[in-house]
Amino acid sequence: MSQALKGVRILDFTHVQSGPTCTQLLAWFGADVIKIERPGVGDITRGQLQDIPNVDSLYFTMLNHNKRSITLDTKNPKGKEVLTALIKQCDVLVENFGPGVLDRMGFPWEKIQSINPKMIVASIKGFGPGPYEDCKVYENVAQCTGGAASTTGFRDGPPLVTGAQIGDSGTGLHLALGIVTALYHRTHSGKGQRVTAAMQDGVLNLARVKLRDQQRLAHGPLKEYSQFGEGIPFGEATPRAGNDSGGGQPGRILKCKGWENDPNAYIYFITQAPVWEKICDVIGEPDWKTHPDYAKPVARLPRLNEIFARIEQWTMTKTKFEAMDILNKDDIPCGPILSMKELSEDKSLRATGTVVEVDHPTRGKYLSVGNPIKLSDSPADVKRSPLLGEHTDEILREVLGFSDHQVADIHDSGALDPPRKQAAE
Ligand code: COA
Repeated sequence: MSQALKGVRILDFTHVQSGPTCTQLLAWFGADVIKIERPGVGDITRGQLQDIPNVDSLYFTMLNHNKRSITLDTKNPKGKEVLTALIKQCDVLVENFGPGVLDRMGFPWEKIQSINPKMIVASIKGFGPGPYEDCKVYENVAQCTGGAASTTGFRDGPPLVTGAQIGDSGTGLHLALGIVTALYHRTHSGKGQRVTAAMQDGVLNLARVKLRDQQRLAHGPLKEYSQFGEGIPFGEATPRAGNDSGGGQPGRILKCKGWENDPNAYIYFITQAPVWEKICDVIGEPDWKTHPDYAKPVARLPRLNEIFARIEQWTMTKTKFEAMDILNKDDIPCGPILSMKELSEDKSLRATGTVVEVDHPTRGKYLSVGNPIKLSDSPADVKRSPLLGEHTDEILREVLGFSDHQVADIHDSGALDPPRKQAAE
């Protein structure tokens, strides 16, 4: 078995979360990802949210597996020469700098193309062309500007951001798909191209069912939203829908046994129409199978609050796992609310490599997510993230073919080393 992207070399100029998620995926698939970091500083996340002093944070380690790290000051003239040499040797350059940074560094698209016409240049920005194109953006800004926040939360509360990093990791996923698509295109065009993914666009793409609902509003109320059953009129925009299902089968989060003390003793319960009769039997309401107020989905829509309140009376008599077992026997779609603690201890997620334990030289053992995308013929072994500049000399020698003398010269130029060392000199 070989790795799917073996032989692809990525020049990784990414930092923080969105870009690193993308290049980590490519690295898991076997690409040689060379992360360029500022000497002495590195990716800012190395030092953010540190749980152990002077040790690369989990924030960094969990986003930068399977990569190599080279420190390079790309504003130093010698550093620019090294960067030019790397552009010649790599297939893809990935970056998520603020708008205009690559141009200011002296490496606009046209220049990169003239150095290596086959190079694919992939970028994440907060916004696409338009009034906000020059703005810097972080996760929650993208969630708010991409439509997720206005449609998340409860109707009588403020907009909410979600814990899933749909702006950063979501856009990283979009960009990774763009990169492999451009790599495929290059196999017959022979040319590189630009790939861009804006975080606002990525979030909107993931929130598309809410854009669907926006248009449905023109034709009447959204009957599967609980506010319909509560007789509350709809406004001009898709409202926040609490835990209502976003699809055609009504669903809610319901309390389970122990909810008084356990914040995650809940289950998501979907009243899928084909199993309605089984639901009636399980909850002890067999009459609802034929009752005109409950038998048909359309009759149930104005009564969803009452129906879910009755189902919850039943779920509260079971733990979330007991309820899951009982309901699954009848093919009733449901899912316990799993905490991060439960997920980190889940044996099947460990067995599939979705949760992995990694050993790190300064941190020791820690848990991370592994590659959630499984290829049958291309295993993705998770390797620890690199220390800052761990592979600088190795890359100069192996990838660029520089001699010991040349490597020493570049060190002398100050292009590779931290300011501390330069100051000491
Ligand atoms: N050598 C020398 N300089 C380097 C360097 C290197 N190896 N790597 C980066 N730099 C410099 C850049 O040249 C730039 O300097 P300049 O502003 O003088 O041109 C600076 O470091 C980096 O700028 P920037 O990317 O804007 O960083 P920031 O910390 O100010 O902003 C973000 C961070 C995330 C807000 C911004 O990068 C951004 O909006 N990115 C796009 C959207 C995105 O991905 N957001 C989500 C992040 S999870």
